[in-house]
Amino acid sequence: MHLIDHGKGGAPECMQLVVGGVPAPQAGEILIQVVCAGVNRPDVLQRAGKYPPPTGASPILGLEVAGRVATLGAGVTEWKVGAGVTALVPGGGYAEYCTAPACHALPIPQGMDFAQAAALPENWFTVWANLVDLGRLTAGERLLVHGGASGIGLTAIHLAKHLGIECIVTVGNDSKAQFCLAFGAAHAINYRTADFAEQIRILTDGAGVDVVLDMVGAPYFQRNLSLLRRDGRLVSIAFLEGSRGEFDLLPIMMKRLTCTGSTMRSRTVEEKKAIRDALAAAIWPRLTRGDLLPHIFARFPLAQAAAAHQLMESGKHIGKIVLDVAT
Ligand SMILES: NC(=O)c1ccc[n+]([C@@H]2O[C@H](COP(=O)([O-])OP(=O)(O)OC[C@H]3O[C@@H](n4cnc5c(N)ncnc54)[C@H](OP(=O)(O)O)[C@@H]3O)[C@@H](O)[C@H]2O)c1
Repeated sequence: MHLIDHGKGGAPECMQLVVGGVPAPQAGEILIQVVCAGVNRPDVLQRAGKYPPPTGASPILGLEVAGRVATLGAGVTEWKVGAGVTALVPGGGYAEYCTAPACHALPIPQGMDFAQAAALPENWFTVWANLVDLGRLTAGERLLVHGGASGIGLTAIHLAKHLGIECIVTVGNDSKAQFCLAFGAAHAINYRTADFAEQIRILTDGAGVDVVLDMVGAPYFQRNLSLLRRDGRLVSIAFLEGSRGEFDLLPIMMKRLTCTGSTMRSRTVEEKKAIRDALAAAIWPRLTRGDLLPHIFARFPLAQAAAAHQLMESGKHIGKIVLDVAT
């Protein structure tokens, strides 16, 4: 099969299309003939040598795929050969064939193509686990999402829409702000031209927000705490601007705040299955109705994975970048 090899890692150009062996599905796994693979920021980190794959995972990049079930591992009864699926995978997505635990796959929502389906798993698993399970986001609350125009950010806007929650986002330019508003955000703040904390205090008459989804880290920590209401929750999913600093932790105690966070990749097969089952029940029926469609900003052939990563690193994209794997 053709696959992307990133060798010892480095700049995007380290990724080369090569020929390698087709992986064999283990018991409980399916082999997927990949049609499209999603590109995610963690792939960029792994390629650069900053996010090694967990033990036992494929060293090939790629955390989500959509395609057709090619073969079944021992004991798999949930899927049939030929079924269209989209799956969260611990690695191996930038390839013509990829194995996945059968219990981490979902059907391709009716009416969606393979590119749209490949754009779903990493963002929806992450957003659900962090905002619903850890963040305990509840109807009637108010949510702040940093990086609102990222793949994760747009999915969080859709989750807020699904739950009936007011969602405020921060973004790095005005066109991203316009896009997020059209996508369903109640307010979008350009953090380069305004202090987001001041703006949110004005927008909410000083009330603040119930939950913050953060990917920026240390420079935002104090302001995030200041915006949280009593019993508020700060959920960290990345530290794009660093994880260390000097902070006043008093608001945590005075407002009974919860600071939490997680990574998706390190979760157990069972933990990811529970998230898959929750998404199948709550979100997949809405996707099938044509609701909550992901936004695909750009598609590249698998051989041009380097161009896909260059685009992601430029930060010019809004939403998802997808690789077309099947030729
Ligand atoms: N914990 C987990 O399980 C998990 C899983 C998946 C993804 N993530 C994290 O979630 C974040 C979003 O992922 P994604 O795949 O949706 O990526 P993405 O589309 O590339 O989004 C990254 C966003 O971060 C914003 N940003 C702010 N400061 C930045 C900086 N210093 N450098 C680069 N971007 C910066 C950019 O928006 P502006 O232009 O508006 O600043 C950009 O939209 C990433 O940090 C990723 O590592 C975490």
